[in-house]
Amino acid sequence: MSKYRDMFAACAVAILCFVSASHSAPLVCEKLVHPLDELAAHHFEGRWALVAGSLNHPPSMDALRLRDSITIYFSNSTETSTYTQINRFGDKCQRLPYNISVEGSTFTFDVGNRFDLSGSFLYTSCPDCMVMRWIVKSRKRHSVDLYLLSRRREVDQKEMEEFRAQLKCYQLPAPVVMDPTEELCLEQPESQPTAAAGGGEAEETVDQK
Ligand SMILES: *[C@@H]1O[C@H](CO)[C@@H](O)[C@H](O)[C@H]1NC(C)=O
Ligand SMILES: *[C@@H]1O[C@H](CO)[C@@H](O)[C@H](O)[C@H]1NC(C)=O
Repeated sequence: MSKYRDMFAACAVAILCFVSASHSAPLVCEKLVHPLDELAAHHFEGRWALVAGSLNHPPSMDALRLRDSITIYFSNSTETSTYTQINRFGDKCQRLPYNISVEGSTFTFDVGNRFDLSGSFLYTSCPDCMVMRWIVKSRKRHSVDLYLLSRRREVDQKEMEEFRAQLKCYQLPAPVVMDPTEELCLEQPESQPTAAAGGGEAEETVDQK
């Protein structure tokens, strides 16, 4: 008799859990997909390491896997705001500078009409991270991208779980997680000529991010 009772109890718990999980998922997503209204300047500017990223454009996802490390520098001022991405491939650093327009916590790349890239920042509980969402529209690519950036090279398991949950809310694939032991490139090259590996047209590089 008590065996049946236990089974019943287990089922009841399972059902309760199921019900509460299915109820809380939209609530969790509501918080996780919500773009931030504002962003403190000190939290935005400076150097960030790309920790993980995912997007719904398989060729660009494959291209992301080829980078050994990605460093992103943001600067913001009334005159010019910039986004500089430095990809490392082996011992080569590819430097990609863009001017951006920042408004509140969203930004757009100033690249004429070669492509449309609008970025915003989403909720994260990680204190030294930013979760950056890109909506990219170009001739070759329409995508939603989510990138986890941090001042650190890697984040806690809990923080990574939160990012994975965010990806699920956007129905994006499991992320490419960067190897934290790979070196980052410097913001400015020390002596060797710039853009050794670069030269690609901006649309090309965004397409392949
Ligand atoms: C960017 O700079 C402008 C002008 O100085 C300022 O109003 C805005 O809050 C800044 N935004 C961020 C995200 O730092
Ligand atoms: C950014 O804007 C400045 C002046 O507004 C310009 O001189 C520079 O070439 C631009 N850089 C890029 C990468 O577009």
